[in-house]
Amino acid sequence: MENILITGGAGYIGSHTAVALVEAGYQPIIVDDFSNSEKNVLEGLSKITGLSIPCYEGDCNDRSLLEKIFSEHALTGVIHFAAYKAVGESTQKPLKYYGNNIFSLVALLETMEKFGVENLVFSSSCTVYGQPDELPVKESTPRKVAESPYGNTKKICEDILVDQVKSEAKLAAIALRYFNPIGAHPSSHIGELPLGVPSNLVPFVTQTGVGIRKELTVFGDDYNTPDGSCVRDYIHVMDLAEAHVKAISYLRGKNAPFYDLFNVGTGTGNTVLEVIQAFEKVSKQALNYKIGPRRPGDVEKVWADTEKITRELDWHPKYTLEDSLRDSWNWQLALSKTPA
Ligand code: NAD
Ligand code: WQD
Repeated sequence: MENILITGGAGYIGSHTAVALVEAGYQPIIVDDFSNSEKNVLEGLSKITGLSIPCYEGDCNDRSLLEKIFSEHALTGVIHFAAYKAVGESTQKPLKYYGNNIFSLVALLETMEKFGVENLVFSSSCTVYGQPDELPVKESTPRKVAESPYGNTKKICEDILVDQVKSEAKLAAIALRYFNPIGAHPSSHIGELPLGVPSNLVPFVTQTGVGIRKELTVFGDDYNTPDGSCVRDYIHVMDLAEAHVKAISYLRGKNAPFYDLFNVGTGTGNTVLEVIQAFEKVSKQALNYKIGPRRPGDVEKVWADTEKITRELDWHPKYTLEDSLRDSWNWQLALSKTPA
């Protein structure tokens, strides 16, 4: 079996990708410092896969730890999820974000070079587009000045990969620009674990549905969209996980140096009010929400052009918005049953 190192593999997207890798016949190996995840994610993974996935606890900035992992396992490739991702906090603590998100990529690239590991998939974000001038947004659409230090780290990391490949380094890399990942594994054994009050829409919706939050505020209903609320491209986390498997397989057929990037979204935009309606339908209950003011820094509308990833990676999303919200809701219900 081919070994794939997943940095940040105990996190939301990394854990679902571990499942997808196992299903595709790969052996995932996790490294995570648990700065934004829980150790019981590993139990959820073994319930789903029937396997005990090797996990190293530690920081990806720690080169000696990376060297230990690389010397203990022959790796086919690496998927680099590990990063801090709280947009708001990044404006308050920019150095925390630049330090972790950028230096961990550099440490990883240096270690890959040292051990002759060529294939890398990197977690980028649609945040690099800001409010694009054309929709749906294509990979060739110019990136905008980042709205936050977090967004800037994604832009800089993409640039680091481009420069490394230009230098003729033995690196074959793909950056995946995720749109808005939601949902959970259909088993409800793993899902998203937001710390504190969620800033993302769907965890706030499900926490309101279950009574942890009193009321959801819809941030603005006066945008130039069908119902006035913002439009995003919400993608099921298992579809997103599958895109990583496709990217890893694709890289195995490429010779380094190589770099490409792909949008990962459904190709469809939905408004905040449509998300609420879909949630009410799958949860069979009314959601307590009110319309509030716009949130500073929000883009009005963005959704992906998925033609490139469909054509090049033969990747197709399978889940609908309702499927995603059903899985988010079932995960929230499962969490609420777990004793604290
Ligand atoms: P997450 O916080 O759930 O997972 C990240 C994991 O990385 C966590 O388990 C955390 O403990 C770990 N980690 C952080 N820094 C580390 C370090 N230095 N060493 C080891 N482990 C470390 O986040 P996620 O939602 O799964 O996001 C994964 C990646 O995808 C991130 O790079 C994020 O920026 C990117 N992304 C996320 C979204 C989203 O909406 N969730 C959208 C676009 C891009
Ligand atoms: C979605 C929509 C809100 C909460 C963020 C990051 C981005 C990327 C994905 C990592 C927006 C509205 C939300 C609420 C609301 N992450 N909303 N009430 O803003 O698209 O992107 O996550 O790369 O970088 O910025 O996602 O889930 O916060 O918001 O009305 O309580 O829901 O205004 O229109 P966003 P989100």
